[in-house]
Amino acid sequence: MKNRPSGFGIAALPRIARGQGSYLIDAAGKRYLDGSGGPAVFCLGHAHPEVNAAIARQLDEIAYAYRYLFTSSALEGLTETVLRLCGGDFQDIVYSGSGSEAVESALKIALQHFAARGLMRKRRFIARQRSWHGNTLGALSISGFAQRRRAFEGSLLDVTFVSAANAYRMPDGVSAETLAGHLAAELEHAIVSLGPSNVAAFIVEPVVGAAGGVVPAPAGYMQAVQAVCRRHDVLLIADEVMCGAGRTGTWRALEHDGVVPDIMSVAKGLAGGYIPLGATLVSARVAAPIQGEHGAYMTGHTFTGHTAACAAGLAVQHIIERDGLLERVRTVGAAFQRALRESLSRFEEVGDVRGRGFFIGIELVRDRASKRPFPAERALSFDIGARAFAEGLICYPCSGNVDGTAGDTLIIAPPYNASDGELEQIVAKLACAVDGALSGG
Ligand SMILES: Cc1ncc(COP(=O)(O)O)c(C=O)c1O
Repeated sequence: MKNRPSGFGIAALPRIARGQGSYLIDAAGKRYLDGSGGPAVFCLGHAHPEVNAAIARQLDEIAYAYRYLFTSSALEGLTETVLRLCGGDFQDIVYSGSGSEAVESALKIALQHFAARGLMRKRRFIARQRSWHGNTLGALSISGFAQRRRAFEGSLLDVTFVSAANAYRMPDGVSAETLAGHLAAELEHAIVSLGPSNVAAFIVEPVVGAAGGVVPAPAGYMQAVQAVCRRHDVLLIADEVMCGAGRTGTWRALEHDGVVPDIMSVAKGLAGGYIPLGATLVSARVAAPIQGEHGAYMTGHTFTGHTAACAAGLAVQHIIERDGLLERVRTVGAAFQRALRESLSRFEEVGDVRGRGFFIGIELVRDRASKRPFPAERALSFDIGARAFAEGLICYPCSGNVDGTAGDTLIIAPPYNASDGELEQIVAKLACAVDGALSGG
């Protein structure tokens, strides 16, 4: 598990036996409610019979036919479905096997786009502090996540970082009204300082995941930074690996902000964890010069567009659409977030409850007025996560959101089809775990 202190129990993990809807059941028969079964992956819960049947059908026919020799109904069906649900002007999808690979492809397609236009100096990426884009070297290079970078410093790409966009933790002297303009000006300053002819792309998580503890873009921010990017011929890449595929209640998280990026990565909720699957969506304007000059994207892998993975993704997306689950995430998500806020409001140490849809972050602070974090050594979020786990609730504890080391957040990201009763259970069990950790009981 990522950055979890050994106290979380890595050495003695329970053995999983099976899944059943919103529950995981270990070999000893203990049941765990999936409040965020891992980092916001399982959008349809576990062992969904229709998804399993679709995968089994595909396996019976053929597991995988190499993407560069054959197309398949699963791949074509998924591509049509995703492009339709996604909206915007996306034209192509490059599939891969993980979020990190989807981000790598996004970075490489941005570079290839400028290469195809003969702009070989446009090589540089700008990313944000307190961000997470993945574990491969390129994706790690653009990640503002000190704990996860530290062991690899010296071998990472030279990337420029601008401030995180966080309405709960604004720069000194900046108000909610001036925040978007302030951050857009900082981005523009960075582009101009580097020289616009050297900058390929700016990459953001529209709702920051593990590095921030679910931080939605402040009002007006995405539109302001898109305008800056357009002014300087810099591509806007949205990393929706965690927040996309419906997690926030719209298929694209950025739909909420009224912005369509040039390139976008998705993964976790795309096939809901049934089979690993990532995807990079490319807009028509980015695709055109590549198509004209190179004829293909130079970022394929052996397992690109794996047939059974696409069948899993297609089944997951079909069920989400058929059962109106995005509507459910939107409407029930708002009430769920309110219930969490009300239930946790009795703890002075719960500084903020925020998020969109079924993607909710809880930030813990020493006191609400100062917003000071607990010392990193206290590992408060992991303590809460371990207590919740012991009581049969899975949530996703994260750390380092304040200064790269200190800061405690919890991510709650249940399946889109979790029942009202299960959501109530999440609220109750989480409050118990927070209480236990804060009272030391
Ligand atoms: C926003 C974001 N991008 C990329 C990744 C990397 O995805 P993966 O772990 O599947 O490689 C993650 C994983 O947590 C993520 O949250």
